[in-house]
Amino acid sequence: MDHQEVVHSRRSVRGFKKQPVPRAVIEEIIGDAKRAPSSMNTQPWHVHVLTGEPLEEVRRRNMTEMSAGAKPKRDIVSHGEYQGLHRMRQVDIAKKLFAVMGIARDDKVMRQDWVLRGFRQFDAPVSLVLAYDRVLDPGAVCHFDLGALCYGIVLAAWDRGLGTVVNGQGIMRSDIVREVAKIPEDQVIMTCVALGYPDDEFPANGVRSDRQPNSEFVRYVGFGD
Ligand SMILES: Cc1cc2nc3c(=O)[nH]c(=O)nc-3n(C[C@H](O)[C@H](O)[C@H](O)COP(=O)(O)O)c2cc1C
Repeated sequence: MDHQEVVHSRRSVRGFKKQPVPRAVIEEIIGDAKRAPSSMNTQPWHVHVLTGEPLEEVRRRNMTEMSAGAKPKRDIVSHGEYQGLHRMRQVDIAKKLFAVMGIARDDKVMRQDWVLRGFRQFDAPVSLVLAYDRVLDPGAVCHFDLGALCYGIVLAAWDRGLGTVVNGQGIMRSDIVREVAKIPEDQVIMTCVALGYPDDEFPANGVRSDRQPNSEFVRYVGFGD
């Protein structure tokens, strides 16, 4: 695919084939993604790639604890509930996903099932857990660096026919991920990226999210027109 095609056809994937992802392909994806820029080329990232039993344990325990009412325990500071425009956009994508999945607004069972899928990282065969060096906390610049790496992973995967969804839901309990994957204390767990071959029959995979027009968020200064 050329760059335009990769960028514009990509969308989050939330339904995966069981087919395993070869380690060599994951290596290539990370090899592409690490060309991302980082502040002063500090490359403050670590990628922990989980599959098989460790990933099963993470999803099982994350799902069990969260559905039993445990509080999220993220390493990074989280905002509260989205409000205003942000909330509108959140609701808009949720509506689109629920519509294609046939989940009615008042269908509590199906809505809960969707939330549990999220806690299980949508049963993807691989999860890439992204972390940064704790010495850089409070960390706004290294968060930026990890975002660049993360989008690099997402695009490099899509270019190879693999789907991803960046997800906070799958690591609501960072302590569980840390314990299972043996992530050292001197790293801060930022997010994870579920990865696998897309199940083309899964309706949510066809959803295309909206973007606001450039005129809503871009200003040109000094262009003289
Ligand atoms: C930091 C971050 C966290 C996200 N967490 C979740 C999540 O927990 N569950 C989920 O279904 N999608 C999650 N997403 C995916 C977004 O919902 C998705 O990127 C957005 O709706 C735009 O859709 P698109 O990726 O298909 O273009 C997350 C994305 C980012 C960047």
